[in-house]
Amino acid sequence: MTTQFLSGTQTETAPGEVRIWDRFVRLFHWSTVTLFALAYVTGEGPDGVHHAAGYALLALAGARIVWGFIGSRHARFADFLYSPRAVLRFLLDTMRFRAPRHLGHNPAGGMMAVALLAMIVVICCSGLMQEMDVFWGRKWVETVHVYAVRGTLVLVGLHLVGVLAASLEHRENLARAMITGRKRAP
Ligand code: HEM
Ligand code: HEM
Repeated sequence: MTTQFLSGTQTETAPGEVRIWDRFVRLFHWSTVTLFALAYVTGEGPDGVHHAAGYALLALAGARIVWGFIGSRHARFADFLYSPRAVLRFLLDTMRFRAPRHLGHNPAGGMMAVALLAMIVVICCSGLMQEMDVFWGRKWVETVHVYAVRGTLVLVGLHLVGVLAASLEHRENLARAMITGRKRAP
């Protein structure tokens, strides 16, 4: 029942459209975007808001990882994990504007999704470690936190370039699809 609610399998789709992103994936994505921005702007305080946003991000990332095994078809890691060779080939094809359209994440998008999830976990764990007595005064923990945040900002920039490139190439609005959950049928 819960799985069915989160998967949104009850919702009707318009003719010519297919349902790709389930309710949980969409909720996860836009909550992550909002909380990430909130955690970023509160990095130097207030601590209460910064930590609350961080804990929520970590909980969401954890839930998303579980969903990657039990969620709906396109939410599963098995649906969007490709070999490095396939990712490279896809990127080369993209540069020539002849990459195939994918209903779920394309190979590069899948790799980016995993990278962003992993970075969120690293940022939040290094944030939590700064609060622990065992790591008190350890400068490297703070350094990991700060550089992981900066690295993630670079990845988010590339993520947006990828979303824009795939949207233009296949004349579809991928950001809109992450809101409605629907895409044009193949
Ligand atoms: C559970 C999660 C997190 C915890 C416990 C945490 C904790 C901390 C702590 C203790 C600091 C040191 C400064 C201070 O005391 O205010 C800090 C700084 C900072 N954090 Fe986090 N954080 C978390 C998640 C995040 C996330 C997700 C982001 C990014 C969106 C982020 C971005 C920053 C930034 C930009 C700074 C300022 C670094 C600087 O001084 O240049 N944090 N965080
Ligand atoms: C306004 C800015 C953003 C837009 C418009 C956007 C848009 C999108 C779109 C369209 C997808 C699906 C890509 C596809 O069709 O394969 C996606 C996936 C994803 N995005 Fe973003 N994104 C934004 C910001 C972010 C940020 C800041 C993060 C994390 C820090 C993030 C993390 C992710 C993750 C983890 C996925 C995979 C979703 C899943 O499978 O659950 N995005 N994003």
